[in-house]
Amino acid sequence: AWLNIEVFDTIDSTNSYLMQNMSAKTHGTCVIANLQTNGRGRRGREWQASLGASLTFSLLWRFQCGAAALSGLSLAVGVALIRGLHEIDASAAQLKWPNDILVNQQKLAGILIELQGDMDGPSTAVIGVGINLHLPEQLLQKIDQPVTDLNHATPSNVNPNALMAKLLEHMVEVLSTFEQAGFDALREEWVAHHAYHQQPVRMLMPDGSEVTGVVQDISDNGTLIVETANGLQKMMSGEISLRSA
Ligand code: BTN
Repeated sequence: AWLNIEVFDTIDSTNSYLMQNMSAKTHGTCVIANLQTNGRGRRGREWQASLGASLTFSLLWRFQCGAAALSGLSLAVGVALIRGLHEIDASAAQLKWPNDILVNQQKLAGILIELQGDMDGPSTAVIGVGINLHLPEQLLQKIDQPVTDLNHATPSNVNPNALMAKLLEHMVEVLSTFEQAGFDALREEWVAHHAYHQQPVRMLMPDGSEVTGVVQDISDNGTLIVETANGLQKMMSGEISLRSA
């Protein structure tokens, strides 16, 4: 109810804007852009966009706890998106660890969380979300992974403003659960929607090596637990890229 919403026609990146103006912005500032000219994804990737192609926004949230306690935050946000997407009948939407949203193995949405603060002092998160609405052909050609959009993923007619409002409601609710009880309180719901639960996967490690295994579970702080040839391994989100095997 007390969100402070700013809407831009065009901006470089809603995440960059909030990161650069962090101290001037209050808790609960939400920046929505009709078009980002320099949208950013995880692991240094770009978030490709054109007018109307995707819903792009960022939410600034201040936490009492330090960055160390926020390891499950990006997964928590995934739960909020899943709730909102299922409400608009995108019922095939699933999570891909750590925080992509897939429909039929194709990417529908992504989350980019950037943190400022110490490991154990108060910290501020900029929670960026991009959801594909209607990807035009010339944009599809620039994207180097399987993607889909809500135009294909739901039979409903999606009103982007209504979806935006719904998603913010779910995000506020999930963030309050997360603040009070941690990711543990959302863990079962997360696992129930995981596209790769009990599935064979390949993981591309930061050093270029590849580890294969079967996904067993998600821990209460959001690490992925995989059964590998060397036994159970816990993967921290960071730099790992997960593929189905
Ligand atoms: C990913 O899938 O790698 C994360 C994509 C995050 C994209 C959103 S769009 C709004 C916000 N601003 C950015 O520059 N990135 C995030």
